[in-house]
Amino acid sequence: MWRGLVLIVSALALPLAGSATPEEKPPPVEAGVKASAHKFVGVANCKLCHADDTTGNQYEQWKKSKHAGALRTLSSPGAKEIGAKLGIPDPSKDIKCLRCHVTGAEAPKSRKARTYKESDAVGCESCHGAGELYAKEEVFKQGKEAAMKLGLIEPTEQNCLGCHNKESPTFKEFDFKKRFEEVKHPNPKLKK
Ligand code: HEC
Ligand code: HEC
Ligand code: HEC
Ligand code: HEC
Repeated sequence: MWRGLVLIVSALALPLAGSATPEEKPPPVEAGVKASAHKFVGVANCKLCHADDTTGNQYEQWKKSKHAGALRTLSSPGAKEIGAKLGIPDPSKDIKCLRCHVTGAEAPKSRKARTYKESDAVGCESCHGAGELYAKEEVFKQGKEAAMKLGLIEPTEQNCLGCHNKESPTFKEFDFKKRFEEVKHPNPKLKK
């Protein structure tokens, strides 16, 4: 009953959130995410099960990547300079910058679990989708397909391009193969 209500409320809120720029593509975190009513649970939640060296410690790999520091970047002198040129006094508080530097920045509050943290910046769920339903032992025990039915994404180049594109004021050409090498975090036990 409660879940039904929450889903309806989020479904109503979503078109509103997107309506400011109807002709643009959907916000980056939604790229490929069909289950867009699910909540973002935050990196600490994924860390519970993905900080083990024998399975690749994805948390540690992510923490070392620039994605983890993407919110801090918006308070740097460089960011302030870019902001000044665009009439944005504080990039770290402006949705025009946050939308690519923070997971779910454009999602309504109803889609953020209590564990969601803006300071996670570009967290796991920016690429893997909102974890409310799949980030659970009983789901992963059933395998990847089960998790994917509940919103887990296996990100592809398309997901990256949701943020690594010309709308970024500092856009650098994006070579997926090369850039993925810098942020990959394989599980050695899942040899493909
Ligand atoms: C309760 C434990 C648990 C939590 C919480 C959890 N996971 Fe997992 N996850 C697993 C297990 C177990 C697997 C199976 C493979 C393995 O051992 O790494 C897995 C596999 C994965 C895979 C790989 C799927 C595949 O087989 O290729 C991804 C991607 C993933 N998790 C992402 C996440 C993200 C993102 C979060 C947080 C939103 C998260 N997980 C939270 C336990 C968890
Ligand atoms: C939600 C938006 C978003 C998504 C999705 C995203 N990125 Fe990023 N990425 C960023 C931001 C923002 C930065 C800059 C972080 C900083 O410097 O503070 C960044 C930085 C990087 C960097 C460091 C680049 C540099 O110039 O130092 C690499 C490498 C990278 N991303 C690879 C990827 C790959 C590969 C994917 C897809 C699998 C991806 N990103 C998906 C937002 C995103
Ligand atoms: C369309 C997504 C997007 C938007 C919007 C965006 N950024 Fe970024 N930002 C990125 C990505 C991706 C990177 C990684 C470098 C790149 O551009 O390829 C990045 C990197 C940066 C960097 C680090 C630059 C560097 O060379 O390492 C700064 C500073 C920055 N952004 C500031 C801003 C500010 C200020 C705003 C708002 C005016 C903003 N960004 C809006 C995606 C975005
Ligand atoms: C910038 C995007 C991005 C972020 C952020 C990100 N991942 Fe991933 N992740 C990927 C991509 C791309 C793959 C490879 C997908 C594939 O194998 O097809 C992947 C694969 C995985 C796998 C499976 C590894 C394997 O060997 O198959 C796990 C588990 C995982 N990620 C967990 C996490 C966790 C936990 C976090 C946060 C601490 C995280 N990821 C953050 C893009 C990302």
